[in-house]
Amino acid sequence: MSLAPPAALNPAAAPAPKGGAAGAGAPLPNIAAITSGKGGVGKTFIAANLAAALARTGKRVLVLDADLGLANLDVVLNLYPKITLHDVFTGKNTLAEAILPAPGGFSVLLAGSGMVEYSRMTAEVREQLQALVAEVSPKFDHVLLDTGAGISDVVLYTVSLAAEVLVVATPEPTSLTDAYATIKVLAMTQGRRRVHLLVNQVRKPGEGRAVRAQLQQVVDRYVNPTLEAGSGSVRLEIMGEIPVDPAVREAVQRRQLLMETMPGTAAAIALINAAIRMPV
Ligand SMILES: Nc1ncnc2c1ncn2[C@@H]1O[C@H](COP(=O)(O)OP(=O)(O)O)[C@@H](O)[C@H]1O
Ligand SMILES: [Mg+2]
Repeated sequence: MSLAPPAALNPAAAPAPKGGAAGAGAPLPNIAAITSGKGGVGKTFIAANLAAALARTGKRVLVLDADLGLANLDVVLNLYPKITLHDVFTGKNTLAEAILPAPGGFSVLLAGSGMVEYSRMTAEVREQLQALVAEVSPKFDHVLLDTGAGISDVVLYTVSLAAEVLVVATPEPTSLTDAYATIKVLAMTQGRRRVHLLVNQVRKPGEGRAVRAQLQQVVDRYVNPTLEAGSGSVRLEIMGEIPVDPAVREAVQRRQLLMETMPGTAAAIALINAAIRMPV
């Protein structure tokens, strides 16, 4: 299978900055954004279970539900938060009050769904998010941002706060095309030169590596030649491949963490292996 030629991307995207990720100053070192081109590929499932896998190794981990507006980390974790990010942003509650313990031994900061005011990235929300991330960063070993899908302002801004980006893709052609679009935009607008790939829902061992190679080939052909000379080239690194596993759906249905209730399943083991390769 080969990828279709890349679609033209948002011409309104900002020009490529030199150096690291743009948008919010220097990204903080222990922040990783989990993002994707296409929705529904498994970001939230991965964020929660990767956090649990890291917590098992003794790390202090915070997952921030950064899919503002369409947050659903609470659903996956069976939490009913009384205090959300919104309450912190409006000054109703402190950050310390909004950080909750999750079942997997990590902490969460939940957003609450349907917050239309966050469907657009205003200067105020940008500043609040940046300040919030700066405040939590020193308190944890890892901060994972569970972002929305696609290349909207909101998603790109959230990703810009992270030192490393983990792009989740499935082997489906639509997911690959959208992953390519995300990678291209991150390279062009944030100066990203290293992107970590988590290939989810693979049907045979090695499919993750094949997906990486295929995406790298397209990036080498269509993105790398367009980058400013001397700015380096975009390199995709495989962080893990997670098999399609009926246990995942079952765990999500039961609103339980796979890592907690079915740690011996193929998908859980794959996430433990991915956690070992956590870049930040
Ligand atoms: N490895 C997997 N095997 C089987 N089903 C999966 C796997 N990963 C994700 N899913 C299914 O996909 C659904 C969507 O995942 P989710 O994490 O909500 O995606 P996103 O956050 O990217 O929108 C999950 O509820 C689960 O049922
Ligand atoms: Mg999600």
